[in-house]
Amino acid sequence: MLFRNRFLLLLALAALLAFLSLSLQFFHLTPVSSAKNGINGKSRKRIMADPVTEPPGADPVYEALLYCNIPSVAERSMEGHAPHHFKLVSVHAFIRHGDRYPLYSIPKTKRPEIDCTLVADRKPYHPKLEAFVSHMSKGSGASFESPLNSLPLYPNHPLCEMGELTQTGVVQHLQNGQLLRDVYLKKHHLLPNNWSTAHLYLETTGKSRTLQSALALLYGFLPDFDWKKIYFRHQPSTLFCSGSCYCPVRNQYLEKEQRRQYLLRLKNGLLERTYGEMARIVDVPTKQLRAANPIDSMLCHFCHNVSFPCTRSGCIDMEHFKVIKTHQIEDERERREKKLYLGYSLLGAHPILNQTVDRMQRATEGGKEELFTLYSAHDVTLSPLLSALGLSEARFPRFAARLIFELWQDREKPSEHAVRVLYNGVDVTFHTSFCRDHHRRSPKPLCPLENLVRFVKRDMFVALDSSSTNYFEACHREGA
Ligand SMILES: *[C@@H]1O[C@H](CO)[C@@H](O)[C@H](O)[C@H]1NC(C)=O
Ligand SMILES: *[C@@H]1O[C@H](CO)[C@@H](O)[C@H](O)[C@H]1NC(C)=O
Ligand SMILES: *[C@@H]1O[C@H](CO)[C@@H](O)[C@H](O)[C@H]1NC(C)=O
Repeated sequence: MLFRNRFLLLLALAALLAFLSLSLQFFHLTPVSSAKNGINGKSRKRIMADPVTEPPGADPVYEALLYCNIPSVAERSMEGHAPHHFKLVSVHAFIRHGDRYPLYSIPKTKRPEIDCTLVADRKPYHPKLEAFVSHMSKGSGASFESPLNSLPLYPNHPLCEMGELTQTGVVQHLQNGQLLRDVYLKKHHLLPNNWSTAHLYLETTGKSRTLQSALALLYGFLPDFDWKKIYFRHQPSTLFCSGSCYCPVRNQYLEKEQRRQYLLRLKNGLLERTYGEMARIVDVPTKQLRAANPIDSMLCHFCHNVSFPCTRSGCIDMEHFKVIKTHQIEDERERREKKLYLGYSLLGAHPILNQTVDRMQRATEGGKEELFTLYSAHDVTLSPLLSALGLSEARFPRFAARLIFELWQDREKPSEHAVRVLYNGVDVTFHTSFCRDHHRRSPKPLCPLENLVRFVKRDMFVALDSSSTNYFEACHREGA
């Protein structure tokens, strides 16, 4: 009972804090967007790390709440904002699946009772939930590349299966889809009314949670879409590297990064004691508990307001949660400083960025296909992308996170194209390493497409090692 009350109080406090902070952030954002010449370095800097609106020292409870991304009032976002003389050409969206049931369970405890069926009068609500279920039940295998056609199109277990998308996850992506619909379809008419299969490029990994997240987003984006016009491709790699996945140097970076992670953990005495205490409570060896990645399950309890599990020897509690979450934040901070993850990310993200740039270039040459691209992915997809783009201040991808590239054409100079990059609705274009210095030197309001092209085709490798000039060389370099 005591635990429950403290938990609720903390949750309420954190929610208030998050609300205040986000409101303040948006308050800063809105005027920048509506101003036609809104290129104000100062306001822009504030977007990602604001000493005023960010709680000092990264409060673990506040961070965890942002990670949950509990659906609430419609978010304000900066997607689709450009000066009037720019025309939207194409949109490329990378999403993380929505809220899911844990992938691991804490040994010898009851797993949290979360219902993964979709019920319109259960929180979180969404007016389109019933229509979504009904539309999904009309879907056919013909819309999916094998093996996606064997997956269920929406979550449907009264007790969630491991890793299953929850109603929260579906609602998060219905909202994302609606938001993108309002901006890209209603306002900017990205797709013609008689759009066809070729106008969309849809790709997902083979997990039910990514496929279902993509379908929820698509349903919000194109309500009651014609199933015959939809085709989802299957991507076996979480890096979406298609035919270019073999990259030994990338794996070397990853091994060094994992070693760094391990050493940091060993240095954290409080963390080790906390794992020890939790292992005693559930009565398994500490090693076994750690291997069960308890934070994954604890985050589910936290995000769903379900109290942490107890045994006869005691309860897992908020203090344990805070210690582990704080360590995660520390780990991310050190990861940015040590740059091993950056090496991994540059090579890991290259193939999908290369593909995106190629698609953009085809569109600038008058191609009318693949105007909207959706990659439905994981934290281990978005995280390297953010790092590779130089968005090192960006938070770890929350549930239903979205990273979006917009391609624009200057109507006054039709041969000139520009890009914008948005993360969870925040314009981060001028935080990317390929456009960070741009607005200081140039009066142009958006980032020239050439900057992104030059980065992907060349500068990504320069950042790794000046002697490699392409992906193949960089992946096979000796002694990295
Ligand atoms: C879609 O409509 C446009 C303009 O009305 C027309 O030019 C085009 O041929 C149509 N495309 C299809 C596939 O029907
Ligand atoms: C959390 O659950 C308790 C009951 O277990 C309920 O009273 C409370 O309103 C819930 N809090 C939220 C934020 O949903
Ligand atoms: C990058 O794109 C080019 C086409 O522009 C292609 O020839 C090349 O194979 C791609 N590289 C990788 C690593 O995907």
